[in-house]
Amino acid sequence: MTNDDLTKIVDTSDEWIVQRTGIRQRHIAAEGEVTSDLALIAARRALENAGMEASDIDLIVVGTTTPDRTFPATAAILQQKLGITHGSAFDVQAVCSGFVFGVATADSYLKTGMAKRALIIGAEVFSRILDWTDRATCVLFGDGAGAMILEAREVPDDAPEEGVLVSSLRTDGSHWEKLYVDGGVAATGSIGHVRMEGREVFKHAVGMISDVVEDVLQKTGKTTGDLDWFVPHQANKRIIDGAGRKLGIPETKTVVTVDRHANTSAASVPLALWVASEEGRIKKGDLVMIEAMGGGFTWGASLIRW
Ligand code: UT7
Repeated sequence: MTNDDLTKIVDTSDEWIVQRTGIRQRHIAAEGEVTSDLALIAARRALENAGMEASDIDLIVVGTTTPDRTFPATAAILQQKLGITHGSAFDVQAVCSGFVFGVATADSYLKTGMAKRALIIGAEVFSRILDWTDRATCVLFGDGAGAMILEAREVPDDAPEEGVLVSSLRTDGSHWEKLYVDGGVAATGSIGHVRMEGREVFKHAVGMISDVVEDVLQKTGKTTGDLDWFVPHQANKRIIDGAGRKLGIPETKTVVTVDRHANTSAASVPLALWVASEEGRIKKGDLVMIEAMGGGFTWGASLIRW
């Protein structure tokens, strides 16, 4: 769906959307297509890239805020679609930070021996919770899914660093009413629609993102100069630019896909990782910083040796 397509639905323009957000188009799931369908496509591609079968996976974590159903977890439905019954599968609800929270959670499972191979997915059909009469929100979001596989390996102490090095996660619930859905199981018995004080979210985003990125760098003794790639949450090009400027990360090292996907919430970081690795930009051995910030507020970052 292009910005011009949106002008037929609400009073907006391609110029406004591009100038304020950098978004040029977004993808919308087909009628009847659910979150686990998108997640399944991403999961199969990740398994193929890793040379693995679904039976190799013993942990599935799906970051989503638009689950197929109130319960069971979309991860359980995905597990069935993948044709496996072993291991565990659950969803992580941290809105736009869902994938980063999922990576940190799965990494902890692997490092403590709770699982061996984890499939982490960010998947959303955000179009289903948008108020298509509210131009301030409906132009910003899109649907999508992306997946990553992490495997635990025994390595000698002096082995070169590999995989997720450190993550930093934060939540400050005092901000929840700035970005939320006005429905829910217990509150209204309905699904509801996204409500957002855009300017308020914008105001906090750059500072929160910078805090967790700096925390992760400090814990690993690295600097922004050591980074090969910065893969931020894709909500708004102006937020990405602001965070890059504050952290001193050049645009040439920053992956930007918000123009083609819009804000796909938990799917935005894995989609950006996929685009950059498919295009041959992110390569084995690269040092990659991922970060996200969203409803809650939640925010987090992970440093990964690819
Ligand atoms: O993952 C985290 C989720 N959310 C975010 O990261 C969003 C963070 N916030 C933002 O990205 C920005 O605040 C927005 C893109 C949502 C809005 O940009 P802004 O520069 O903060 O604009 P604004 O809300 O201050 O609105 C400016 C004007 C208003 O008109 P007036 O009052 O100045 O006459 C709005 O009514 O733009 C108007 N406007 C629009 N005009 C055309 C709002 N939405 C639209 C629209 N098309 N779609």
